[in-house]
Amino acid sequence: MTKNQKLLAWVDDMVRLCKPDKVHWCDGSEEEFNELANELVEKGTFRKLNESKRPNSYYAISDPSDVARVEDRTFICSARKEDAGPTNNWMDPNEMKSILTGLFDGCMKGRTMYVVPFSMGPLGSSISYIGVELSDSAYVACNMKIMTRMGKDVLKVLGDDGDFVPCLHSVGMPLNEGVTDVAWPCNKTKYIVHFPEERSIWSYGSGYGGNALLGKKCFALRIASVMARDEGWLAEHMLIVGVTNPEGKKRYIAAAFPSACGKTNLAMLTPTLPGWKVETVGDDIAWMKFGADGRLYAVNPEYGFFGVAPGTSMKTNANAMLSMTKNTIYTNVALTEDGDVWWEGMTDTKPENLTDWKGRAWTPQSPEPAAHPNSRFTAPAGQCPVIDPRWEDPTGVPIDAIMFGGRRSSVVPLVAEAFDWNHGTFMGATVSSEMTAAAAGTVGVVRRDPFAMLPFCGYNMGDYFNHWIQVGKDHADAKLPKIFYVNWFRKDKNGKFIWPGFGDNIRVIKWIFERLEDADNYTESPKGKLPKPGAIDISGLDLTEERMAELFEVHAEEGIAEMQSIRDYFATFEGHVPAELYQTAEKIEELYKQPV
Ligand code: GTP
Ligand code: SPV
Ligand code: MN
Repeated sequence: MTKNQKLLAWVDDMVRLCKPDKVHWCDGSEEEFNELANELVEKGTFRKLNESKRPNSYYAISDPSDVARVEDRTFICSARKEDAGPTNNWMDPNEMKSILTGLFDGCMKGRTMYVVPFSMGPLGSSISYIGVELSDSAYVACNMKIMTRMGKDVLKVLGDDGDFVPCLHSVGMPLNEGVTDVAWPCNKTKYIVHFPEERSIWSYGSGYGGNALLGKKCFALRIASVMARDEGWLAEHMLIVGVTNPEGKKRYIAAAFPSACGKTNLAMLTPTLPGWKVETVGDDIAWMKFGADGRLYAVNPEYGFFGVAPGTSMKTNANAMLSMTKNTIYTNVALTEDGDVWWEGMTDTKPENLTDWKGRAWTPQSPEPAAHPNSRFTAPAGQCPVIDPRWEDPTGVPIDAIMFGGRRSSVVPLVAEAFDWNHGTFMGATVSSEMTAAAAGTVGVVRRDPFAMLPFCGYNMGDYFNHWIQVGKDHADAKLPKIFYVNWFRKDKNGKFIWPGFGDNIRVIKWIFERLEDADNYTESPKGKLPKPGAIDISGLDLTEERMAELFEVHAEEGIAEMQSIRDYFATFEGHVPAELYQTAEKIEELYKQPV
């Protein structure tokens, strides 16, 4: 298997600690996936979906208490508390290690420990990094096979002395004497812990999504953001998309929206404007480095999509639907009578009889939704019908524009362009969004989610702002991407979305494209460069110019109050926020005060 001493020694130590009955080194083959899936079917974790409807696909429902990331149980255990910053939970690393060592002691009794070697990024590419996840969940191993490049080829690349990020995971339910297993083992005590200096991850008690698939948020964002800070690159919660205009000009755009705010949808958008083409590089995470030519290049470190199911339909996101027609794992969606899946928003009419995500009979009269709002599909990225030809290009794709956005029913305009890189960093730093079901918490509450990284930054967020400012300074001569802020979610007085969204978002991208060509299509405002009236192509839409104007309303008083609230927010980082961001707030405030 491997002669890598660091890996062998670590696995030995963790076997001694966790005391599994068996150790299984994953080779990443189809046969292995099928064997694990069959075992999961026998255990009742998986149910095989109707082979003629969803070939090689499986259905799982979680414990009702284990349905989303647990941000209040997520820790950044840097040596100094200040390095975790005010937005992260922190505990002294030694203290945390001793708690975790207690919890992990014997935690895999009666279970198999799966050794899952994985590569984030194309195998062997200079931008890729290797991780190894040790997990007592076959469900996790199966998901990792779809979400990452996983198995024996990774060990080959790792070699005898290659380095890797150790990722230890347990559902936290040892099968001690008298304990009978359940379909979805987990523990009500949960710890999702990162040691940034050591670059290691320990996750205990959950089997769901970002809590358990440790290559994703834990490694590719929290640990990688620390690596990126130290090495001068960017690890971001961003989709990557290639857009071609009717003249055949192609540009790549990266976009950061908070969880469940539209990344997967934008990444696979079906344009409603004729002649435009959109191709997917990634739908959740971007690693970006500067190339020898000074341009910013992005790769998608992942290999699959772990996408939100509800709201996904042939109308809203056909390419996502077509990505998951086979070889897909569904978690917490509803089951149809003929062994297929369903969720709210998938079809116009609701099926008459379903089994809901809690395993109960469900009809359209049932009071609760059939699928959990954070139910997800795990599908291979290569199955996306519009996967970009360069999605596995080890050099990445050159980024011309970066978009930030959130879910705001008021105040924030449909689109605005930053005056410059620092203003763009300011836009990123001040992203605010209504909370969604992707994290345990109160849905709908507006919170600041800087760069859509609030739950994913592995160090002091103020230092992270500074890293962005620094990147701009270090590459000032280069062609830095232009930065934009978008909001698809503005509502009218009746609570209805004003902007149609989804495929019609191409109309905003068209304006952005024209900005990249320096078109004279904007007016200056304190919020940035806004589209001139009429500059957004709304041809064929049932949207009046008055309705459009509603999407761009600027209120000076509101804006000035917002700058004060932003300064108060920056103050919570106690001196870590760079001066450039305070200066930007002042500049914007001055603009609000100017007579119009
Ligand atoms: P994570 O995987 O949690 O990071 O989420 P994401 O950012 O990829 O979000 P996703 O694209 O899965 O969208 C989440 C929800 O927002 C879905 O229910 C979508 O239907 C909805 N949504 C996406 N784009 C739009 C849009 O343009 N307008 C409106 N109104 N809703 C949208
Ligand atoms: C998110 O919450 O942003 C996700 C889902 O992409 S999870 O993998 O659970 O983090
Ligand atoms: Mn995400």
